[in-house]
Amino acid sequence: MSDRPTLLVTRTLPAPVESRLSADYDARLNSDDTQYDGDALVARSVGADAILTCSTERFSADVIQQLPDSIRAIATYSVGHEHIDLDAARARNIIVTNTPDVLTDATADIALLCLLGAARRAKESIELMRSGKWSRWEANTLLGVHLGGKNLGILGMGRIGQAVAKRARAFDMTIHYNNRSRLDPALENGATFHENPEGLLAQSDFLSINCPSTPETRHFLDARRIELLPDGAVVVNTARGDVVVDDALIDAVVRGKISGVGLDVYEGEPNFNPRYLTLNNAFLVPHIGSATLDTRNAMGFRALDNLDAVFSDAVPADQIT
Ligand code: DGY
Repeated sequence: MSDRPTLLVTRTLPAPVESRLSADYDARLNSDDTQYDGDALVARSVGADAILTCSTERFSADVIQQLPDSIRAIATYSVGHEHIDLDAARARNIIVTNTPDVLTDATADIALLCLLGAARRAKESIELMRSGKWSRWEANTLLGVHLGGKNLGILGMGRIGQAVAKRARAFDMTIHYNNRSRLDPALENGATFHENPEGLLAQSDFLSINCPSTPETRHFLDARRIELLPDGAVVVNTARGDVVVDDALIDAVVRGKISGVGLDVYEGEPNFNPRYLTLNNAFLVPHIGSATLDTRNAMGFRALDNLDAVFSDAVPADQIT
């Protein structure tokens, strides 16, 4: 019998991550990547000492209350942790960790992809090329929205928001932001702080959503707030889908209030509002913010560093308190 801790790994992870965790833990892998929820998740955790999960598994209060007493930690392979009920974990003395920093650049890159894709009509351009119907250059075809000299409003100026700002400055955009607290001037780097998120909206020719999903941000971008955006604004969301009221955003695109949307995340994903597919100016990608091999490996190694700390009785660097 091994004296290594038993680790339940809820999903299939990149090979280098699985190889490291299999060397250090009695690993319970999920080689066919079946998704388990609720009772099945609880059943799989029997006999485990810790769980390495993804943002796809919901650790509700009900699930956490049923976990075996042996579980010391839940390490999520994500920076977002809205899928884990922290109060319930705290009540059971279960340590929860996430993977900040390592996915900042990859996610900010996708935010710019979504911003450019929506502003420069990438979806329609790609479809035209693939249709075989592109017959000639035309001065008035596929005209998009210019980035340079425009305001980019960033809702949530944490690590990823700041990395989006850095990239957008290279496109000569002017940065405005709202955040729970104002950044130090060195981190602001000339960006204008809006204490009130609605004040931010009024200045946002482009809006990039980079805040976590919390009870306060859930459904923040609703019909009333969309009206505060300048006419023709572009909306980008690479944070969490439930920050947006989908039907309100889609209605605003249909009537031309919003000129384009670039989305990586969706409420209820992988199911998403099918009306998005009816919009020509919706540039849609399937939650690939952190999807580079380097990043996905780094996320796994970061999660394992946290678990290693737990089992050496140290405080994990990314413990969520
Ligand atoms: C994250 O890390 O939160 C990404 O969105 C993947 O879930």
